[in-house]
Amino acid sequence: MIELRGVTKRFKQVTAVQDVSFDVERGEVVGLIGENGAGKTTTLRLIATVLRPMAGSIRVAGLDTIKQPRQVRRKVGLLFGGETGLYDRLTARENIAYFGRLFGLDDGEIRRRTEALAERFAMTEYLDRRVGGFSKGMRQKTVIARSLIHEPEVVLLDEPTSGLDITSAAAIRQLIRDFQKEGRTVIFSSHISGEVERLCDRVMILRRGRLEFADSLAELYRRTGTEDLDAAFVQAAESGLGR
Ligand SMILES: Nc1ncnc2c1ncn2[C@@H]1O[C@H](COP(=O)(O)OP(=O)(O)OP(=O)(O)O)[C@@H](O)[C@H]1O
Ligand SMILES: [Mg+2]
Repeated sequence: MIELRGVTKRFKQVTAVQDVSFDVERGEVVGLIGENGAGKTTTLRLIATVLRPMAGSIRVAGLDTIKQPRQVRRKVGLLFGGETGLYDRLTARENIAYFGRLFGLDDGEIRRRTEALAERFAMTEYLDRRVGGFSKGMRQKTVIARSLIHEPEVVLLDEPTSGLDITSAAAIRQLIRDFQKEGRTVIFSSHISGEVERLCDRVMILRRGRLEFADSLAELYRRTGTEDLDAAFVQAAESGLGR
């Protein structure tokens, strides 16, 4: 479903992603981990066509992100923690509808999907309130609904639970499980080991822009001789990942 081949992205003298290749199968949930600046956000933005690779190629559902960016965008939902880009003067519903229109959905479809998403995230109560007064979690849920309005097959989440309260973080984890049941393909980045341990089929570790590991947690534990993601991560940094 997602295929990277020799992908490299540089920002001036900084190499954010270097010669990264991997495949993610349809219906897989992959956790993307790595230290600050390792290239996680850049990788997700490359897949979502927000950035262009300088070398290598990326395919999503068989579509090339450089040659067919518009078609790729229809398949992909991208969610970033932190900066949300919501319009404060618009209501949650209007913010979501704006995205729906960008994807060419008609008003009836937008209404139907928005109400279903609002129900799912328990945000019906504030759907018609202006986003300006929203709490962090309310904003985050609005952003999630917005990124799902076109029912993407591929969902990319960049630190989706960062800064959320316990309840909202649990709702996001449940959402990822639901995506998995629905057969969607998910890559999420996280600095929260417990979340990665609980949710993903496979883990990818980026280190200074390079893909260091892409396999199951069981395999990571086997290779590092630990049973704990934090310990395995540190172990891999210190002594590498021999077979
Ligand atoms: N737009 C940009 N302009 C210049 N440098 C950038 C840009 N985006 C990313 N970088 C650089 O690329 C490298 C990788 O950044 P990236 O944001 O992908 O890391 P990350 O793994 O998401 O880190 P974090 O855990 O802190 O979110 C860093 O050195 C960063 O400074
Ligand atoms: Mg990041």
